Amino acid sequence: MSRATGEAEHDLVLVVDFGAQYAQLIARRVREARVYSEIVPHTMPIAEMLERRPAAIILSGGPSSVYAEGVPAIDTEVFSAGVPVFGICYGFQLMAQGLGGAVSPTGAREYGRTPVKVDRAGTLLADLPADHTVWMSHGDSVIAGPPGFDVLASTRVTPVAAFEETGRRLAGVQWHPEVLHTEHGQQVLEHFLHQIAGCRPTWTMVNIVDEQVARISEQIADGRAICALSGGVDSAVAAAIVQRAIGDRLTCVYVDHGMMRSGETEQVRRDFEAVFDKLDVVEAADQFLGALEGIHDPEEKRKIIGREFIRTFEAAEARVFGDAAAGDTAYLVQGTLYPDVVESGGGAGASNIKSHHNVGGLPDDLRFELVEPLRTLFKDEVRMVGEQLGLPPTMVWRQPFPGPGLGIRIIGEVTRARLDILRAADLIAREELTSAGLDRDIWQFPVVLLADVRSVGVQGDERTYGHPVVLRPVTSEDAMTADWARLPFDLLERISTRITNEVAEINRVTLDLTSKPPGTIEWE
Ligand code: XMP
Repeated sequence: MSRATGEAEHDLVLVVDFGAQYAQLIARRVREARVYSEIVPHTMPIAEMLERRPAAIILSGGPSSVYAEGVPAIDTEVFSAGVPVFGICYGFQLMAQGLGGAVSPTGAREYGRTPVKVDRAGTLLADLPADHTVWMSHGDSVIAGPPGFDVLASTRVTPVAAFEETGRRLAGVQWHPEVLHTEHGQQVLEHFLHQIAGCRPTWTMVNIVDEQVARISEQIADGRAICALSGGVDSAVAAAIVQRAIGDRLTCVYVDHGMMRSGETEQVRRDFEAVFDKLDVVEAADQFLGALEGIHDPEEKRKIIGREFIRTFEAAEARVFGDAAAGDTAYLVQGTLYPDVVESGGGAGASNIKSHHNVGGLPDDLRFELVEPLRTLFKDEVRMVGEQLGLPPTMVWRQPFPGPGLGIRIIGEVTRARLDILRAADLIAREELTSAGLDRDIWQFPVVLLADVRSVGVQGDERTYGHPVVLRPVTSEDAMTADWARLPFDLLERISTRITNEVAEINRVTLDLTSKPPGTIEWE
């Protein structure tokens, strides 16, 4: 993928992925330092990396030992190409080893919060407190820096925890500057990027919007485009950028499938009507719920929802493009994000992107050319772009919500009555979370109705057979991994009491304590 936002505009930092999930986080932190970054696999030949003309290369964390069997390596040519290189954790050890320093299994491991001592600030650690806490995750230690390098920091067990050679613009740290538990991590990264590597901090939201608008005006020229809005932030921001480029030659389609949360369809409609010039709202609740009648199997439900979505969308498409002269290119706007691109192998095209994360997934034979304005962006950048475009906060800060909606939060057949029960419980959870001021602290808060389960309870003097609900509040940075949110007990108690008091059909409230992996965020 080329630098989609204009070859000469931004310096490019390549983050070499050694397969330990840190690469995405590093790439995001580099962007927070206003430098454009992309992730490449460690198997990419150095020559190919250099062809991209990177302003710097960062070697990410990875397996804990450079001496273990079959661990990934990197050609030492990367250090002599004249490109600034920053090594992090495993990357730091590869650097030490590749440049003539020494790495040794000291036997003492460091995991988690570790005090580090700055022995000499140099450029990399300038202005940092002499003693501070960083996040470590390694077994081996660097015991001697490469010749010509200044050793900057140490820990109780690691004599060389940071080094630099500013002449050759090479530096590294044993710790993880990208994780939030590391104090001053961002500062260290910025010292490398701005001071040592000389990268220009041009990656700003204003620039992103301007460049994407220019690029899309060129791509679509005087053609017409269509966008399926899911109600979520990604498709809304993608459409808003495209509308800025081509005005009312963009038509947005919003399919109301009848499985949104309480008040949500109304909110989404209000927001969309305020923002989009041409909006086609399709009321399709009867159609979707009719098709779901009698269906219990989760996969089957998803398939049906996907199929009905495509039908509805194709009908809308025919209305929009029906009169277009044959041979005209029709453009389809999609809110594909950078993590989707990375996770699907970084290849071109959206075809290999996890289809279940699009609403239903669109069929391959649509005659569209794709327009993907967010293909280079992370989720938090999308939100900042949304703010930059002046979109309503309810749209920009909406928590992620699955395309199939409450349909995959009812375990069992989806019926109107069950949707009403779940909506009532879900609304209580949302209201209480909001009044506790914790909306932005969690990633998502699904409430799941175990509709096919009956649970014994007692209310007044009577035994009841109601349904349980499961509260599934999670924290996450990108939905790929997640942890169960440690919500305050008194908040959970309020939610539980209100749900059992106010929703007659529910007599039991449970909390899901599973991280992802192994559990997914949604129950189906
Ligand atoms: P899981 O459940 O796989 O979810 O941990 C990860 C993220 O994806 C959302 N999700 C979906 N989004 N269509 C969507 O548009 C779907 O079928 C779907 N399933 C899960 C989920 O809400 C979470 O944010």
